[in-house]
Amino acid sequence: MLNRDENDLLARVGPGTPMGAFLRHYWMPACIAEELPEPDGAPMRLQLLGEDLIAWRNTDRSIGVMQNACPHRGASLFFGRNEENGLRCVYHGWKFDVSGACIDMPNEPAESNFKHKIKATAYTVIERGGVVWVFMGAADPAPALPAFEWNLLPPEQVSLSMLVQECNWAQAVEGGIDSSHVGFLHGKLGSALAAIPAGTGRYYSQKDNAPRFEVMDTEYGMVIGARRNAEDDSYYWRISQFLYPFYSMIPPSGALGAATVSGHAWVPMDDHHVMMWEIEWHPNRALTAKERERELANKGTEGPEGMLPPSTRPGGRWYPRLNDANDYGQDYELQRTLWFSGVPSTQIQDIAIQESMGTVYDRTKEHLGSSDTAIIHYRRRWIAGAKALAETGETPPGVTVPDSYAVRSASLVLPRATSWADEGRKVWFAKKDTTVASV
Ligand code: FES
Ligand SMILES: [Fe+2]
Repeated sequence: MLNRDENDLLARVGPGTPMGAFLRHYWMPACIAEELPEPDGAPMRLQLLGEDLIAWRNTDRSIGVMQNACPHRGASLFFGRNEENGLRCVYHGWKFDVSGACIDMPNEPAESNFKHKIKATAYTVIERGGVVWVFMGAADPAPALPAFEWNLLPPEQVSLSMLVQECNWAQAVEGGIDSSHVGFLHGKLGSALAAIPAGTGRYYSQKDNAPRFEVMDTEYGMVIGARRNAEDDSYYWRISQFLYPFYSMIPPSGALGAATVSGHAWVPMDDHHVMMWEIEWHPNRALTAKERERELANKGTEGPEGMLPPSTRPGGRWYPRLNDANDYGQDYELQRTLWFSGVPSTQIQDIAIQESMGTVYDRTKEHLGSSDTAIIHYRRRWIAGAKALAETGETPPGVTVPDSYAVRSASLVLPRATSWADEGRKVWFAKKDTTVASV
């Protein structure tokens, strides 16, 4: 349980809030580079940390991200003309380059030097591995990008997509590090359950619904070991990574060598919307057509997990069709026969439940148990980090050690007496030509 002040501190991310200031020290994945395909193409609305932004691809293929309000009299630059290395406001024709400098002011006398005094708020952008990264902090130069394995592989080995969740970022994060919901919320019934082969990680997950948690701090965040009974003399360990400020890596499942790794980023748009990135990668080979199809089926316009028709609001390509307005497609017949929850998709199950808590959950009302260990730990460290920044100016953790982000999740079956952390450490570093540890 948190008190009201702590709850606000954790949840609120807008300009001037302690958590907002904390998060502004990190690079943010803002959109997929393919969403801005052409130079001089249409600008796109974005929203990050409570700020309305506009993104556009410049004539020279660089990307501009700046506040979506013209410095002249506040018109939206979404309507702007993206032309010859700058974005021109259609209200009175002022034009800005990617650094935010005003480079043309055609409604002022030609001899005026007023334009040299005007600068729009623009943020530093780097495009890498198919991601448009934005830095909204004050540090100059900005820190190096975190060395995520998935962001440094060739594009054929990585899949990137998103879903917008209409709730606060922190409760989405808490859903992501809460491994004990997996056997319930994502549980399968009847023939679907019987089809899971014995001796696999998914089988052990379904069999033991009361995992024990151990959490270990790292310089980039924390590693979470969730222990379930496997056979009489062994445990099944699901080892998740959680990295500052909002990234997870989910333990892989599937045969050794075949398994992909996946993870999320929960990027706060404002206090009531979070962009949930879904990232899947294989460190050693291209993703197969089937692996990509699975992702496409989740994101296509067909089937229960389809998307609403795209709109131009921030994140407007990534709103799911199953949502609050249609009870997320919950079906009580499905609940009796196939899915424990009755909601027909793993991703929508998470979203349905996290949104059902209210857009900013009031944590003064909760009752945490031992299965909430990792959540308690996360809150403590993140709140302490935001307070340390506010009180002493301490740089938030992880920012100065971007190379430490080169890690993976893992799953292992180990003899009961063996240390999960010792064995985990042998396999969770993302080294070239090593195999993902999976059961
Ligand atoms: S409001 Fe943009 S040029 Fe006047
Ligand atoms: Fe989940």
